[in-house]
This record gives sequence, C-alpha cells and structure tokens, in this order.
Amino acid sequence: MISEVKVDLTGGVLTLTLSRPDKKNALSNEMYGVLADAIERAETDTEIRVVLVQGDGDMFTAGNDMGEFAAQGSGNGPAERHVVRFLKALAQATVPIVAAVQGKAVGIGTTLLLHCDHVILGEDAQLVTPFVNLALVPEAASSLLLPARIGYVRAFSMFALGEPLPAQTALAWGLANAIVPVAQLHAQARQIAEAIAAKPRGALTATKRLMRDAETLSAQMDREGVSFAQRLTSAEAREAFLAFAQKRKPDFSKIA
Ligand code: COA
Repeated sequence: MISEVKVDLTGGVLTLTLSRPDKKNALSNEMYGVLADAIERAETDTEIRVVLVQGDGDMFTAGNDMGEFAAQGSGNGPAERHVVRFLKALAQATVPIVAAVQGKAVGIGTTLLLHCDHVILGEDAQLVTPFVNLALVPEAASSLLLPARIGYVRAFSMFALGEPLPAQTALAWGLANAIVPVAQLHAQARQIAEAIAAKPRGALTATKRLMRDAETLSAQMDREGVSFAQRLTSAEAREAFLAFAQKRKPDFSKIA
C-alpha cells in the first residue's frame, strides 16, 4: 500500500507531506507510524538537517481520523498506537522542524505546531482545537505548551470553545512566524527550511535542546494520555463520534 505520508530527503531537508486529501489529510495510525519513523530517523541520520511538515490539498490536516477514535473508544483500536511514538518523538526532537499550514489545522494538526520551530501559515489558515467539543482533552503536551505560549485564558478558550483561530490572530499570538499567499506557501517554507539546513547542525540541535524541556513535555503527554484514554471510552465521546459519522451536531444534553 502506498503511504498517505510522502517522505522526501533533498538537500538536507526531510519533507513529510500529508497526502490523504479526500479525507482532508485526517491522520490514520499508518500515517502516524510513517511520521514517527521519520522524526526518529531525523535524530540519528546526519544527512537530515531539518524536517519540513506540510499537507497536500486544501487543508493541512483534519486531525486524528474520527473512525479510528471511535474504534479505540470501543476497544477495537490497533495493537500499536503509533501516535504515542510520534508524540514522544516530537517531544524529544532536536532537529529543527518547519511547518507549512494551509486551510484548517485541526486537533493534533494545531498541537503539533507547538513542537515546530518555524511555522508559516497560508492566508486561509485556521487553527482549531475542538477537544472538548469531541468530549476529549488536549494532547501533545498542548495543555502545557499552549497556555505558556498564548496565555491561559486564550488557551482555555481555544480548548473549550474550539472556535477556529484565523491566521492573523495566530500570528499576533505568537503561534506562527509569517503569513504568505497560499500559492507561495510550500516554496516559502522550503526556502526557510533550506536556510536552516545551511546552518551548523550541531549548534542548531544544541540550541533546540536548550530551549525545550523534553522530559517535562514527555511527562505531560503521559498525564494527558491517561485522561484522553478515559475520555475516549466515555458516553460523551461515543455521542460525539457517532454524530460526526452521521453528519449531525452532537447532543450531550441527555448524558449526565
Ligand atoms: N477523520 C476521518 N475523516 C474525516 C475527518 C477526520 N478527522 N475529517 C474529515 N473527514 C472526511 C469526511 O468524513 C469526509 O468524508 P466523506 O467524503 O467520505 O464523507 C471528507 O473527509 C471531507 O470532509 P468534509 O467534512 O466534507 O469537509 P469540510 O471541508 O466540509 O469540513 C472539517 C472539513 C475538517 C472542518 C470537518 O470534516 C471536520 O470537522 N472534521 C473533523 C475534525 C476533527 O474533529 N478532528 C479531530 C480533532 S481532535
């Protein structure tokens, strides 16, 4: 089977392209596996100077595959959940990561940006973290990283209300470096990635190591993971996933 994440190493830039456009690049277990392998490889393969994450189609990613969430909630998830390995790899990454975001970045699509070192948004980008709407909790250490980055009340609002954050606000709040026309997004991200790739790798990775506390991030991911797993099996989450599958609004009013 051809992977729905394209991997390309050219000129020291490892480009990971989410490529499942018919499902808005929703992330499956298989895709997390490829992403995890790539980020892990970037730590040891000295040919890789920088990682660039981007998406095909009109949307960066619609976040975790909803069908797979529902399967996990009913105990039918995969034996090995690669998302856990992917998140841990992000927490521990010392190779710089650049992201290029067009359209929506939903759920982990936004929280993974908090682990990126340079984020470029297309003019139409919108960051969305609808964890509470899905009866879930934040992940990827975003419960720590988002309030630290943008302040508690803004972070709570993003998590609790799940309203899309427009690119201009994301830029103003320090969630991104720049906004560019969508037609130029991938070229400009590539340019930045190449500029970073030309820097001394040892100094870059040492700088990133000093700027981030991998242990704390990893421990927060573990705490979130416990709560997330409980929430996945809740009646509220079952209703949220069923509503998505049935293309209707969820009704939580009858759940105590
Ligand atoms: N998991 C699985 N499939 C998804 C998906 C997801 N997270 N997001 C979108 N899709 C699928 C849709 O089911 C639809 O499939 P179909 O054509 O077989 O019916 C297809 O992708 C296109 O999605 P659609 O909803 O028609 O596109 P849209 O542009 O109107 O809306 C979104 C896009 C992302 C706003 C909307 O699909 C959505 O809210 N998705 C769920 C996002 C989410 O909550 N993710 C989890 C975060 S923790």
